[in-house]
Formats: sequence, C-alpha cells, structure tokens
Amino acid sequence: MDACGPAGTQRRIPASRVLLTAIELRLFTLIGEERLTSTEVAEKAGSDPRATDRLLNALCAMNMLAKRDGLFKNTGRDFGYLVDSSPDYAAGLGHTAGMWHAWTTLTDTVRAGRAAGRGDINDRGQAWLEPFIAAMHYRGCLQGDAIAALLPLEDAELMLDLGGGSGAFAMAMVRRKLGLRAVVFDLPNVVPITQRYVDEAGLTGVVSTATGDYLVDPLPAELTWSSCRRSCTATARRRTRRCWPGAPRP
Ligand SMILES: C[S@@+](CC[C@H](N)C(=O)[O-])C[C@H]1O[C@@H](n2cnc3c(N)ncnc32)[C@H](O)[C@@H]1O
Repeated sequence: MDACGPAGTQRRIPASRVLLTAIELRLFTLIGEERLTSTEVAEKAGSDPRATDRLLNALCAMNMLAKRDGLFKNTGRDFGYLVDSSPDYAAGLGHTAGMWHAWTTLTDTVRAGRAAGRGDINDRGQAWLEPFIAAMHYRGCLQGDAIAALLPLEDAELMLDLGGGSGAFAMAMVRRKLGLRAVVFDLPNVVPITQRYVDEAGLTGVVSTATGDYLVDPLPAELTWSSCRRSCTATARRRTRRCWPGAPRP
C-alpha cells in the first residue's frame, strides 16, 4: 500500500495523536532516565492508570518507548528529542499539539473562508502560548545566527523586532554586533514570556521588551524613525506606517 496515498495518510493520524498526547502529558519527560510501571507513570502524570497503560503500550509499538518486565523506559534514539529538559528537545511538538485543535476546524474554515473557532493569539491562554513561543524559540535558535550574518549590522545601534516572540532573532543580532541594542515588540501576554527568555540568556537590558498590538498601538518612544530608517525593510515600513506617525512611505 502506498504510504503517501489516502489510506496511508489516514493511518498516520492515530499515531500522530498518540505522540501528541504523550507530549501534552509530558510522559517522556516524566519517565526521564527511569524504568517505571504504567501505574507509576500515571501517578506522576495525574492520569488514569489503565488508559495510561494503553497509551504507553501504543508508544512501545511505535518504537518511541521500550518495555521490559512491565517497566517502561525511554529509548536512547529519541531521548533528547522528546524529553523537555534536554537541549535537543523539539519544542515544536508542543506547539503542534496546540495546533491540533485548529486543524480540526479546517473544514469549517474552508467553508467560511476565515479561521473558525479560534481567538486572537493574545487570548488563547498560557497553555497554548508557552509551547507556541517555545516552538518559535527552538526554530529561532537554529536559524538566528545565519540570519544575523546576512544583515548589514555594522552601523546599527538599535533594532526593532516587531512580533519578536521569544526574542531569539533579536538575541542572535545583539550577539553578533557588539553594542547593538534591541527592542522586542509583542502582545501583552507574550512579552512576559519574552522577558523570561531574554533574562535566561543573560541579555537583560541589551534586549528590552515593549508591549502592544503592532497594528494599532504606537511604538516605543525611543524608536524614532530616523534612528532606524536605514535598516528597515519595505515590508516593515508598510506595517509600521500604520502605528508610527512620520514614517516615510516605502
Ligand atoms: C509566528 S510568531 C514569530 C515570532 C518571531 N518573530 C520568530 O520568528 O521567532 C509571530 C509573533 O508575532 C506576534 N504577534 C502577532 N500579532 C501581533 C500583533 N498584532 N502585535 C504584536 N505582536 C503580534 C505573536 O505574538 C508572535 O510572537
């Protein structure tokens, strides 16, 4: 059977859901380096023992856990990728779990021509926001240095990262150009998360944060057009003209 055909695609859906539920319950992290019974895992997860046992066995069938003498353990192959204390943890998995609910409304979205049943980013709650920003941070850390190397930062003193999320890109830029300062502008519920990433990176003060909706709110007073115009792209100018009086047309 063609694994990429309709039947193969349909069969991958349960496996995806099993993995995402394990991520949401943090089962790989709770098992860590230990060998545990399913009852012990359920106790740690605060989940139902029988249902947890079924889920753990499904993960074994998918080779994402191993089982011996009734004890479950992480596999060496996926440990770093699935355990959230590991530096190699694929934070995008948590965000994919959050996006599952949005994908479920795809039919309604296509019928209506607009996103169905989803509030604005700022109103989706902490359980959605944290994995979302973690996923952006994971990708930003992988790409930040390469992006920073492409930009003409030599004469830059201050940069604005509109919708900067965790600040991963802003942090890569200030690390590349000594003396450069950055302001990460994002929504009110995101900025405390941004601040935490910046503090953890030891860049407090070098990367600062500003709160608002970039579609309607004014930008921070320290960011005058003249201080940034040389490094702003046309796209940024178009967007910022809406909330940045005095910015020239692109
Ligand atoms: C896809 S994420 C990208 C984050 C970051 N630029 C990166 O690449 O890692 C989009 C970011 O824009 C922010 N954002 C979306 N709409 C916004 C708005 N109207 N005003 C301010 N920030 C906004 C989100 O909160 C989120 O942090």
